[in-house]
Amino acid sequence: MATPSSNQVTAKAHTNIALVKYWGKKDEDLIIPQTGSLSLTLDHFYTETTVSFSKGLKTDTIKIDNQLVNQKNWQKIHSFLNIVRKKAHINLPAEVSSFNHVPYAAGLASSASAFAALAAASSRAAGLSLNKKQLSQLARRGSGSACRSIFGGFVEWIAGQDDESSYAMPLKSDLINDIRIVALTIKTSPKKFSSRKAMRLSVQTSPYYKSWIQLVKHDLAAVKITLLNNDFSTLGHISELNAMRMHALTMSSDPSILYFNEATLRIINSVKQLREKGIECYYTIDAGPNVKIICKEKNVSIISKYFEKIFDKNRVIVAKPGSGVTYE
Ligand code: DP6
Repeated sequence: MATPSSNQVTAKAHTNIALVKYWGKKDEDLIIPQTGSLSLTLDHFYTETTVSFSKGLKTDTIKIDNQLVNQKNWQKIHSFLNIVRKKAHINLPAEVSSFNHVPYAAGLASSASAFAALAAASSRAAGLSLNKKQLSQLARRGSGSACRSIFGGFVEWIAGQDDESSYAMPLKSDLINDIRIVALTIKTSPKKFSSRKAMRLSVQTSPYYKSWIQLVKHDLAAVKITLLNNDFSTLGHISELNAMRMHALTMSSDPSILYFNEATLRIINSVKQLREKGIECYYTIDAGPNVKIICKEKNVSIISKYFEKIFDKNRVIVAKPGSGVTYE
């Protein structure tokens, strides 16, 4: 006998790289950040997720890349689906199937594209019709950086102080035509400290955390001006400094966390050397050892070739700005 089920909905979302980082929450449950942040959505890396709600299931059935997820991930996704069910006033279990086109080795947060795609697919499958601002508020509840992946290009996450006032919005800039990210993948093993744990430690124990809050206000305002003025050099300079200052928080927390390894330091020095030679590029690093190089289209080839000589060719991935969430 056929079992009543909701429409099956598939959504696709790209990952993003923060140029002004999100690092710390003021509300752990609602995922309200301590500061705003700003990112670039990338075309190369994405997640596709299909969701349907069905009476025929006993409980949520969740697969990533055709494999049933472990208990920890199941619980995280189940809790997120509970938020969607509550909003939609339904009580049906869900079937979720997700495919990540984010090479784990790329060191790009797949949680951003994963929760953005899940928010879009699950809300529509549950019968909700959310606009992009509302989708970003929902995606945020799964993983903070996911709220920015609802939109394409440059995106700001307005910190806010509650569920309603914390959301992402797109920012226009002609720099979008020219900016590129060269992602260098140097390590694949899972990290010891997740971003979630590490940022909590920074908030609680880094003596510099208060300064970070002030600094981000300044960086956000300054980056928005660079976007208006198409000022790539200042954008790159601020992004690089902002990343290093975020890492200063992890290093100065108790226990101290160092995400860099030897290859990270080598790449940092190489980027500086390339810059001294007149090839304009900047680096940014998230909660792991991998480095993303920010550059203009005209320098992609020379930068890629330079790093392909040091690392494997398949460890150098070039990304362009990507689009926001879409349905299939
Ligand atoms: C370093 O969004 O993964 O990439 O909200 O706890 O899920 P949770 O954290 P997450 O943290 C991202 C941290 C970062 C910086 C950024 O993307 O802004």
